Amino acid sequence: MTEQQISPLNIEAIRADFPALEQDVHPGKRLAFLDSAASSQKPRQVIDAMNAYYETSHANVHRGIHVLSERATAAYEGARDKVRAFVNAGSRREIIFTRNTTEAINLVAATWGHANLGPGDVVVLTEMEHHSNIVPWQILQQERGFTLRYVPITGAGELDLDVYAALLRDEPVKLVSVMHVSNVLGTVNPVAEMIGQAHAAGALALIDGAQSVPHLSVDVQALDADFYAFSAHKMAGPTGIGVLYGKRALLDAMPPYMGGGEMIKRVTLDGSTWNDLPHKFEAGTPAIAEAAGLGAAIDYLSGIGMQNILAHEQTVVDYALDRLSEVPGLTLYGPAPERRNGVATFTLADIHAHDIAQLLDAEGVAIRAGHHCAMPLHQRLGVAATARASFYLYNTQHEVDVLIDALERARRVFGR
Ligand SMILES: Cc1ncc(COP(=O)(O)O)c(C=O)c1O
Repeated sequence: MTEQQISPLNIEAIRADFPALEQDVHPGKRLAFLDSAASSQKPRQVIDAMNAYYETSHANVHRGIHVLSERATAAYEGARDKVRAFVNAGSRREIIFTRNTTEAINLVAATWGHANLGPGDVVVLTEMEHHSNIVPWQILQQERGFTLRYVPITGAGELDLDVYAALLRDEPVKLVSVMHVSNVLGTVNPVAEMIGQAHAAGALALIDGAQSVPHLSVDVQALDADFYAFSAHKMAGPTGIGVLYGKRALLDAMPPYMGGGEMIKRVTLDGSTWNDLPHKFEAGTPAIAEAAGLGAAIDYLSGIGMQNILAHEQTVVDYALDRLSEVPGLTLYGPAPERRNGVATFTLADIHAHDIAQLLDAEGVAIRAGHHCAMPLHQRLGVAATARASFYLYNTQHEVDVLIDALERARRVFGR
């Protein structure tokens, strides 16, 4: 597939690639999968790549001098090259495979953070972060005694950049760790500017890209991010593999994360020395089939074109926001359509989000309900739980219509 062959309009061809979409989840109820922000569906190309790997090429990587081991190593390291190109990292050594975004952030906290943060230092997070970009820092804070500060959000669901600038000006900030796109509000944060400001203040910047890499063209060098984390399973790839990008000089200077095979150069009973990047951070047998799947997912998304994917998603999300805003009693969260991406989060009168999700499921509509791993954000919004419809390249305006019809039914059931 090339960018020319598949346009955002060729949605039927794209949907045909995703076997999971071709099913009724209840009698006569075709699946409308609006939960891709939690985890996306997988195209046949990814499933086939993983099957083919297991059927013909599985062995352990790096160690064996036989054909299958060479194939496995080629699949694994080939995926690293694809990831490097996909986010435009300067070197393949800067691409560390992790289990997911969560592990990537924990890796930075446990290595760079442990070595560099202490009393008197400040780490800046934001009120809209996912728990995976709050809790690792809180755990480290207990051990290292630095200070955590949170950039608040405005009533429009955007970061208060005046407070951010003031924190950088007035406090000894060593690290800013912020999400690129909010998994609840859809807010696309101005991370390029925020990274520039962090650097001007002498701080490093880590970006949680879990909700951006699947949807936007991300260029880690253009952003000048010091660290950038994301998960394969949200970008049409498999679970079990994620990525930490880090600038080489930083990664070189950091201590290892876990100890074991692969990450060492030499081991004696008196001590060990560390392998070169990226292996220093990849202890043990890695997720090889998953890497092959991630490589296939990148080929798939690149073949369609990230610009085409974004344009399509924006059309569907804008349509969803329009139609949702017409539902009586519905409150939408997040900024104006042009400043957001991917998700539509709402409450409906006083109906609990879990009840909404359950009634929608009966109509075949899969959404997510709860705090979406962002409890502090929900506290700030003044709600315990929200309902979230999230969209990807395979979703259609028709599915939005099904969502709206199902919501109308929920209103009737609850008499609202
Ligand atoms: C913004 C954001 N960050 C981090 C994560 C954690 O991703 P994972 O569970 O793949 O580690 C998520 C997952 O929902 C997310 O939306």
